Amino acid sequence: MKTFQIDQRPRRNRQTASIRSMVRETRLHPSDFILPLFLVDGQEKQVPIESMPGCFRLSPDLVVKECREAHQLEIPAVALFPALPDLLKDKAASESTNPDGLLQQTIRQIKNAVPEITVITDVAMDPYSIDGHDGLVQDGEILNDATLEILVEMAVSQAEAGTDIIAPSDMMDGRVGAIRQGLDQHGYTRVGILAYSAKYASAFYGPFRDALDSEPRSGDKKTYQMDPANRREAVREILLDIDQGADMVMVKPAVIYLDVIAEIKARTNLPVVAYNVSGEYAMIKSADRLGWLDGEAAMIEMLTAIKRSGADIILTYFAKEIAKLC
Ligand code: PBG
Repeated sequence: MKTFQIDQRPRRNRQTASIRSMVRETRLHPSDFILPLFLVDGQEKQVPIESMPGCFRLSPDLVVKECREAHQLEIPAVALFPALPDLLKDKAASESTNPDGLLQQTIRQIKNAVPEITVITDVAMDPYSIDGHDGLVQDGEILNDATLEILVEMAVSQAEAGTDIIAPSDMMDGRVGAIRQGLDQHGYTRVGILAYSAKYASAFYGPFRDALDSEPRSGDKKTYQMDPANRREAVREILLDIDQGADMVMVKPAVIYLDVIAEIKARTNLPVVAYNVSGEYAMIKSADRLGWLDGEAAMIEMLTAIKRSGADIILTYFAKEIAKLC
């Protein structure tokens, strides 16, 4: 057999599982993940979400159970999303500041039962808005500054209930600064802000909107969420949020925006969070169910790629599944 003179043979570093594990550049750990949870009013209630196989809307008692399990799996944090009946929705999202609202009650129960787990709560009007928009709608327009007032009250109400981190997901201008000020004025300097800084107007949020029944009733979100074609604008948004006091910044979605994650990582020393969104989850789950690919292997590859691109933390519906494997 002829041997060629080849100076560099990269395959040497790939020849056994033990060598591959030694030279591996990216490792996943349960502490990399945030587990999103959907809330629904009631007791022992578990409503499947059809477009997100394996995900449920859970009543507060079952949410607490999930938090216990997440904590045992070494997942450090959960992100909460309340699903409300239309009856409780209005134009001004007034239910969002109800001290006994579903979200506020659930925060308190989690903090009592599993104080070690970090609770992250979304600030945006859409779960509470009859218009299904993240901001206040007037004559078909989303009002920026009038929305800020509501968002600040919402954030303070969540802080009062005991949340650890506020995550504004609305994309209004100036929200991070306004929320920081509002929290500080009310004595909540300890409450952090995870800013959904580069949040794109994406078709990949479809299953999430099913889960919360929060599809916009008219129009779309393109006047506030970012154009998927833009990368430099993501840098602008992130720098603005950092300037206004964000503690962590987020890119959303994750998998089809790895270039944005890499760029943001290079531009900031703050922790970079990536949101592996509902559509990205549903794609793998549905293909797996059809037998078209190996869902577990695809999940590991997808999450590894997100981390490899520069994400420090990944918000993902796969959190429990992956935590059990790593
Ligand atoms: C609401 C919000 C959305 C998501 C998180 N917070 C939907 C939207 O902006 O329409 C999407 C999450 C997902 O798709 O997994 N502000």
